[in-house]
Amino acid sequence: MTDDYDLPNGAEQSERLHEEALDVFPGGVSHNIRYTDPHPLYVTEAEGSRIRDADGNEYVDFWMNHITSVLGHAHPEVVAAVREQAGQGLHYGAVNEKALELGRRVQEFVPSAERVRFCSSGTEATMYAVRLARANTGNAHVLKTEGGWHGGNTDLSASIHAPFDEPETVGLPPGAAEHVHSFPVNDRTAVDALLSERDGNVAAIIVEPMLLAGGGIECEAGFLEYLRDATEDRETLLIFDEVVTGFRVSPGSYQARVGVTPDLTTMGKFLGGGLPVGALAGRADLFEHARPDVETDRPVLAGGGTFSMNPMTATAGLASLDIVESEPVHEYTESQAERVRTELAAVFDELGIETRTLGTSSLFLTHFQPERPLDTVGAVETATNRTALHEFHRRLLSHGYYFLPGHMGAVSYQTTEEELDGLIDASRAVAAELQSEGVL
Ligand SMILES: Cc1ncc(COP(=O)(O)O)c(C=O)c1O
Repeated sequence: MTDDYDLPNGAEQSERLHEEALDVFPGGVSHNIRYTDPHPLYVTEAEGSRIRDADGNEYVDFWMNHITSVLGHAHPEVVAAVREQAGQGLHYGAVNEKALELGRRVQEFVPSAERVRFCSSGTEATMYAVRLARANTGNAHVLKTEGGWHGGNTDLSASIHAPFDEPETVGLPPGAAEHVHSFPVNDRTAVDALLSERDGNVAAIIVEPMLLAGGGIECEAGFLEYLRDATEDRETLLIFDEVVTGFRVSPGSYQARVGVTPDLTTMGKFLGGGLPVGALAGRADLFEHARPDVETDRPVLAGGGTFSMNPMTATAGLASLDIVESEPVHEYTESQAERVRTELAAVFDELGIETRTLGTSSLFLTHFQPERPLDTVGAVETATNRTALHEFHRRLLSHGYYFLPGHMGAVSYQTTEEELDGLIDASRAVAAELQSEGVL
């Protein structure tokens, strides 16, 4: 395996910047997954389907704004709207019509969204969701999926990596990890057992309909229906974390696709049109004690960010939703990603390499050499060749295709069919190379 990048223009500038960054940021980064060995590649520009790095290497980008963008980078209509808004002020720290309009659109599209609170990240949204669930039910425990990633949220920093028995981080307050319990995705028996063990003291079940960090495993529609019934029966709240799937899979998000309406929904990523955003939406009654205009003996803080209702974010989000509504964005990205999933599977079959390509809508990720069915995040983490996956993505860089090694790829509205053909060809070449070296 190579230790270095093999890029047309080399990687000297990225290496130099990383050296400098080591004196600024711990490990040179502010988000650990953005560290790649031997150093990350510094990005200087992004437009349409492409990004350029500090050494002038150009790539077709499949990491797409940290899986936020469905439209592609710097969509001209979004940029024009943002430029206009910038002339009217970057942030007011006050209520404004742009944010009101974006909130209305969330209400209009997302079935569970009777009320909306904006914040600035998905992490904040899941933090407020758990708090609101505990405040409304008076219950302490929360159930989540094994491998479910809901941001850096202290309340949910458990059971993220196999074998799922340790919190993701030290430094949690006493009791934090003891109040979170996990179940394998789609496992009704495990959920039943957890609910029975803590009967009457479960505030919420939180699930990502498709687990992004969990490698693309999806919740079955029947499982989501089961969760809806099981929570209703027990007065536990059901939370869908749609930070990834929200607006990406359809304007109504995953819940509209499966026809299951949760009590609360968390959103982020796409909704900000490329700018920082988070949103918590749900049943109106659940927000009663969060209102500033109502006397209550049980006040709950569900919102409070300096940059919440930021007009730049709202403008970018609205412009993005306008395009999604008027153009076949979902049809194109979904059909092209489906083609990529199918053609990649055929390429690996042809080479005799055992793989399974997961992902929904515009997303795709190939796992190498699954030794058993990839039906849980535990299987993704322990039964697949993750070293090979990292190396596969790293080598695609030298062919001009950018993935964050080991992570999901996304097709955007501006990614061309020719670029996808190129990706398939490059994948064939890299896989054959890795096979000849015995990595695959
Ligand atoms: C499902 C899910 N929830 C929450 C988050 C956290 O969102 P943010 O990174 O905006 O804080 C993420 C981030 O990737 C996510 O994938």
